[in-house]
Amino acid sequence: MSRRLLSESTSPPPEHSRMAKRPKLDHLTPESFKNGIFLAPMVRSGALPTRLFALKHGASLVWGPEMVDKAILHAERVVDPVTGVISYNGKSRAMFTTHPVEKPYLIYQIGSADPDLAVQAAKTVMQDVSGVDLNCGCPKPFSTHSGMGAALLTNPDLLCSILTALRAAMPPEITVTAKIRLLPTQADTLKLVERIINTGVSAITVHCRTRNMRPREKALIERLKEIVDFVEGLGKGIAVIENGDCTGFDDAKRIRDLTGAHSVMIATAAESNPSCFSPAPLMDVESTLIPSYLRLGKYLDNHWASTKFCMVQIKSTRSSLSKTDAHEFRSTLSRAKGYDDLTSVVGEWTGEAEFQEIVKAIESRRGGAVLPPPQEAEQEDEGMDAPVCTPPNRANPEPPTSRAPLGPSTALRMPLPAIITGSDALTPTPTPG
Ligand SMILES: Cc1cc2nc3c(=O)[nH]c(=O)nc-3n(C[C@H](O)[C@H](O)[C@H](O)COP(=O)(O)O)c2cc1C
Repeated sequence: MSRRLLSESTSPPPEHSRMAKRPKLDHLTPESFKNGIFLAPMVRSGALPTRLFALKHGASLVWGPEMVDKAILHAERVVDPVTGVISYNGKSRAMFTTHPVEKPYLIYQIGSADPDLAVQAAKTVMQDVSGVDLNCGCPKPFSTHSGMGAALLTNPDLLCSILTALRAAMPPEITVTAKIRLLPTQADTLKLVERIINTGVSAITVHCRTRNMRPREKALIERLKEIVDFVEGLGKGIAVIENGDCTGFDDAKRIRDLTGAHSVMIATAAESNPSCFSPAPLMDVESTLIPSYLRLGKYLDNHWASTKFCMVQIKSTRSSLSKTDAHEFRSTLSRAKGYDDLTSVVGEWTGEAEFQEIVKAIESRRGGAVLPPPQEAEQEDEGMDAPVCTPPNRANPEPPTSRAPLGPSTALRMPLPAIITGSDALTPTPTPG
């Protein structure tokens, strides 16, 4: 394990936590789950750097990847004295990593089929997260064989007993939520939703596919309106979060108008471009996001395999590179076996500048919400009053000068010095006033 270790009890707080202002949100409430665009839980793809970039570019809240309850129970919590990264380390690797800067916006997702284990897992991490979410939608056999994930959809007694136990065991400042899929019939879905709402959850996410639907099948978002109306009729003020097929900020507004959902959650599109939460997402990711991702991953000591996997998922919608250069760029990434393999291309770099930019962007947010309330959507479109560092009508801002020095030109394995040294400029991230 390469991560620098520090026992919390004996060590000074990391530099960044001392610098950090108090988070704008003391804790989440059911209202925090309204008018937002959220990063979905994604195993492998929802790594710490991805979540930080999503927050930088406007995600209101971020879900961590599902972690099976038992996996975290015996993990050792260690803090990196330089970066402040918190790792929950298992025997051979970090099971879960986070940073205090994301805590006000971080929901930790649990895979469980046992109320006691779920509670133990939640207690293990609760000092570092703002909410816990129960995965009731994963259709993969490794989840369903042991009664977890989508298997809970047909075992509502167990599902609700886990949520009830979590709600009873967690302090009020930790929210409890659930992420489900649609059941084959609408009547059964409504029955299940009602039972879940009655457990005291703060919000419910509905992935608008049934358990048997494949990811490439179109989400059945037209079924959500009735569910939202039903939940509103229960009068508890609980948010319904749409999930399925949302491609970004503009699409989230369309989906919300269509479904009435209080918020929208994005997975696949965010995996391809963590800046998709912005009204002006970065399009030329080879010269913006990917180099920044690399630098941040190195600075945070993110496991190389994780950084490489996530970088490979990131795709340009409009690359400034020629086909040949783009191909060369991608093969340089895929040949790399560690951060140091790319040092010869970018020269010496630390990623600290990237991290500080993210901290600044997150701390300058005025709250967790991003989507304007429906009735104000039109006005908000006219003039966003969040910190805007690039003109809102410029989809792909020029990267600011990076502090990363260029590598010596003789060391270049490809003609891309201007590309790799690019950075992901802050995109406009509107927040309601
Ligand atoms: C790479 C990947 C990993 C995922 N991991 C999880 C997970 O850990 N927990 C979960 O509830 N859903 C997980 N999902 C499902 C997504 O959260 C989401 O429900 C689904 O992809 C539909 O959203 P989309 O249409 O925006 O992709 C994952 C999806 C992807 C693509």
